[in-house]
Amino acid sequence: MEWVKIIHILCVMGWMTSIFAVPRALIYWRREWDRLGEFGPLGDLTIRLYRFSLGLGVIAIATGLYLAHWLGWPVWTHLKLALVLALAAHYGWTGRLVLRARKGTFTESDRFLRIFNEISVLGAIAVLWAVVVRPF
Ligand code: HEM
Repeated sequence: MEWVKIIHILCVMGWMTSIFAVPRALIYWRREWDRLGEFGPLGDLTIRLYRFSLGLGVIAIATGLYLAHWLGWPVWTHLKLALVLALAAHYGWTGRLVLRARKGTFTESDRFLRIFNEISVLGAIAVLWAVVVRPF
């Protein structure tokens, strides 16, 4: 079971790279698009990062569900699952922004993207609180 947990935490770390970075990268991607007038290397990097982390996110959730099943789904895992699903929804919204940016559509302000980014950080803190403190 230790190896499942090691892979779980490793894939969580990989998923968090996008959750913490991509919303902010969209700010600089728009500046690149304004400068070049077309799709550029920063946009390419942002898409690759998002795609790479998507795969790790799926493995993080799959191993988490497996670990929870192995532990018999203690109550704290239900809270954690709900928080992770909210984090996944935020990540899906980010994916939609990335797809639109790919076509040159940037409608969110820098301020919105910074606040949007911080919300995911708070979400990750809540998930860690649930698994480390296990409030019930
Ligand atoms: C569906 C999503 C997830 C489920 C069901 C889940 C469930 C679990 C379970 C059952 C464990 C093992 C606890 C133990 O060994 O006693 C675990 C460990 C852990 N999970 Fe998740 N997890 C999920 C996603 C995440 C995410 C997104 C994060 C981080 C943001 C995360 C962070 C951790 C950490 C840090 C540990 C190690 C905790 C420890 O050893 O004390 N998990 N997870």
